[in-house]
Amino acid sequence: MTLYLDGVSKNYGDVEVLRPISLEVSNGELLTVLGPSGSGKTTILRLIGGFIAPTCGRILLDGKDLSTTHISKRPFNTVFQDYALFPHMTVEQNVGYGLMVKGCPKEKMKQVVNEALDVVGLSDFPGRYPAELSGGQKQRVALARTIVCEPQIVLLDEPLSALDAELRRQMQFFLKSLQRKIGTTFLFVTHDQQEAITISDRLVVINHGGVEQVGTPKEIYYSPKTKFVAGFFGDNNLLDGQLTASGSIETPLGTIPSLQGSNLKTSKVIVAMRPELFRIGKREGAFNIDCQVQNMDFAGDMNFLRLSPKLDSDRTLLVKLSSDPSVPNLDVNGDATISIKLEDIAVLDNPR
Ligand SMILES: Nc1ncnc2c1ncn2[C@@H]1O[C@H](COP(=O)(O)OP(=O)(O)O)[C@@H](O)[C@H]1O
Ligand SMILES: [Mg+2]
Repeated sequence: MTLYLDGVSKNYGDVEVLRPISLEVSNGELLTVLGPSGSGKTTILRLIGGFIAPTCGRILLDGKDLSTTHISKRPFNTVFQDYALFPHMTVEQNVGYGLMVKGCPKEKMKQVVNEALDVVGLSDFPGRYPAELSGGQKQRVALARTIVCEPQIVLLDEPLSALDAELRRQMQFFLKSLQRKIGTTFLFVTHDQQEAITISDRLVVINHGGVEQVGTPKEIYYSPKTKFVAGFFGDNNLLDGQLTASGSIETPLGTIPSLQGSNLKTSKVIVAMRPELFRIGKREGAFNIDCQVQNMDFAGDMNFLRLSPKLDSDRTLLVKLSSDPSVPNLDVNGDATISIKLEDIAVLDNPR
């Protein structure tokens, strides 16, 4: 199974809420569409599901254009944020509903439902009603109800956003392991960067209805291609830079020697340096920055160090250090040189 979006866009009147997007969804992968609220995530799922029609472009399943395929005939199933369970039906009846509509024989239905309840860890509750379940259990019923229909792709629209932080983390691991176990393609939508990085095989980052970058979680995190992506994920130290004829980059904090393998198209660039990739102390062949320490905060698993660079003292750089007791405390207002290896520096075009 391969799903391909071929230049798919969506307009409402004059407003283009989704710019043309071309994207391949591979068999068995967990692909996440990540973007802020209003960026067009739900629109993408609704287009694939067939709830709305694209303004331009085609949606192809194994090469076959789906534009004339009705919602009910598309081999997809959607899991919604609010679960959408039937309150007057038991867990077993909710999970079996799709099979019943399809006219599945009773015995077969019971067996498939039991298997699905087993997979999601709800075998003990077939007779309960939704009101008698916790949020996480309701979400698992919704998942079981989806997988019994054996869709080729499960579409999940922010399915965990109603859960509190701890349960949400548990459900992220549960979803990922469920997806691995059944091997079905999951197309997951979220606005939560951490969630997206944790569970996905690949990510599509969108902003204002356009694709910013497609890649694995590590590519997106360590090699952002746009300023939006560099700033959207976790903490980052961003600098404006100017690419010189020799390939080095001038920044307000000094010149970075020519970087290998950078594929830049503009001379104005952005330099992105992750806080956890710095070390204290000057190093040969690295980008060294002389600073004054503003503060050092102990945060349990790490220390947050804030420093002002000598060459641009109005700026604050963030460095994350291990909270290993062997890491020395730095004096507030004291001097410190921080360094980052050249290969750990991300440089990206800044066309704007
Ligand atoms: N039926 C509609 N008519 C007009 N505008 C819409 C409609 N549905 C969504 N939009 C607009 O499209 C944009 C993207 O919406 P949506 O895909 O729901 O974003 P997300 O799921 O990323 O929060 C938003 O600006 C939203 O207001
Ligand atoms: Mg949405």
